[in-house]
Amino acid sequence: MASEDVFKKIIAHCKEYGFIFPSSEIYDGLGAVYDYGQTGVELKNNIKKYWWDSMVLLHDNVTGIDSAIFMHPTVWKASGHVDAFNDPLIDNKDSKKRYRADVLIEDHIQKIEDKIAREVEKAAGRFGESFDEAMFCRTNTRVLEYRQQADAVRSRMNAALNGDDLEELRRIIVDCEIACPISGTRNWTEVRQFNLMFATEMGSTADGALKVYLRPETAQGIFVNYLNVQKTGRMKIPFGIAQIGKAFRNEIVARQFIFRMREFEQMEMQFFVPPGTELEWYEKWKEMRMKWHKALGLGDDRYRFHKHAKLAHYANAASDIEFEFPFGFKELEGIHSRTDFDLSQHQKYSGKKIQYFDPERNESYVPYVIETSIGLDRMFLSIVSSAYTEETLTREDGSTDERIVMRIPPALAPVKLAVLPLVRKDGLAEKAVEIKNRLKFDFNCQYDEKDSIGKRYRRQDAIGTPYCITVDHRTMEDDTVTVRYRDSMEQERVPAGGLSEIISEKVSLKGLLEKIR
Ligand code: GAP
Repeated sequence: MASEDVFKKIIAHCKEYGFIFPSSEIYDGLGAVYDYGQTGVELKNNIKKYWWDSMVLLHDNVTGIDSAIFMHPTVWKASGHVDAFNDPLIDNKDSKKRYRADVLIEDHIQKIEDKIAREVEKAAGRFGESFDEAMFCRTNTRVLEYRQQADAVRSRMNAALNGDDLEELRRIIVDCEIACPISGTRNWTEVRQFNLMFATEMGSTADGALKVYLRPETAQGIFVNYLNVQKTGRMKIPFGIAQIGKAFRNEIVARQFIFRMREFEQMEMQFFVPPGTELEWYEKWKEMRMKWHKALGLGDDRYRFHKHAKLAHYANAASDIEFEFPFGFKELEGIHSRTDFDLSQHQKYSGKKIQYFDPERNESYVPYVIETSIGLDRMFLSIVSSAYTEETLTREDGSTDERIVMRIPPALAPVKLAVLPLVRKDGLAEKAVEIKNRLKFDFNCQYDEKDSIGKRYRRQDAIGTPYCITVDHRTMEDDTVTVRYRDSMEQERVPAGGLSEIISEKVSLKGLLEKIR
């Protein structure tokens, strides 16, 4: 199945089973804003806990905060966001549609790449098993022509972006004859910079309201609290501050479901280190963060590092952890060596001394910072997109059945177990409720008595519940139940009293945390 179709199915599944709904859907939704439903919020909370515990519980020198979304407007001047948090935009004069200039060019490059893929596919069909793709790409004149075209456009675009050359970006669009997907015309405006921060006003206009921003990253809330935490927590460098919270960006090209949203959540950690040690810590955090991802077992080959070729003016090293989403490898998390830029800027703009006296070095300095920054929603997408599995099952009589199963890592699964009475009568329902009420203090449990047992299993598979506990007539005699395992669908008879132990072994976060400590 084409990956685009798989992605559409995942989006539909997320809605059907209460993971994610479009925001304000009864009013036709709001672009790139989503709500998490009854199933999604549980998965989201579990991801947060996995991240938080891995930072704050496992590291004695990492502590957490929860800072406000609104901050003094000067914060964003100091951080550079007011002047430089921009995207290059271009409008089509006929459709009045607005685009990110670099995205229009990237889409054009993608079309050339698609032509290469089609040539390869055709040749593979012609040559059959003897087809050597690498050799074909090296020698076929049409493929070589396309490759050269794509590379030339890409390097022109990168040079224009790096040099903030807006005129050149427009020239590339004109030279490549890129047309507006809506109007089909090439009637373009100039390219302009557009700031991505949402602004609002605080206080009444009569008092002279203050222009404030919805934070575009949570990191600045950590920087401005650096002194508070260091002093009140008596923290010694190196130490880190972790935070989970909402961030807002007026993304112009917001697409790919929850991959690029206008309101999203970040899990960020700023690690403060002595100057000169930052690159060593940068490598350590890269390694620790990759380990955190791989411990989930979604497949080691679905992750890779991407080193930034162009560094932001404040960084001396930066890499992304990319994940293989249904639409290809894309950024999931950023690990940045941000030097002393942010703290120095806040020192300058606030006039407050932001320094650390290092007793070992016997000197004061502005600490350097390693940042790990991951989008919670992207993390969510990485999990649901790799968990979504369609299976064809063959029964003993040879007939087949389909099931959709969300193979979510059990420790993150929204619901850990469902207790299902085989039938409602003969006291089975009451017994099942009793078992559920005993287990609900330790696990997120569901009770379900409606429809056939097969249908109930499918409903639990669809939300990724790792265990289904069935109460049948034998339970009433010997207090045993069957446990059905989500992935293998195997069933096992166990004493009802031993359920807690069996389940907690697989679903506790402890198991995951032990893998990365
Ligand atoms: N403090 C650094 C920072 O914000 P970033 O690369 O702009 O760096 C960090 O963002 C992470 O936040 C990204 O790796 C991504 O996972 C997530 N993110 C950024 N923009 C997003 C958006 N519009 N929607 C969803 N997640 C986003």
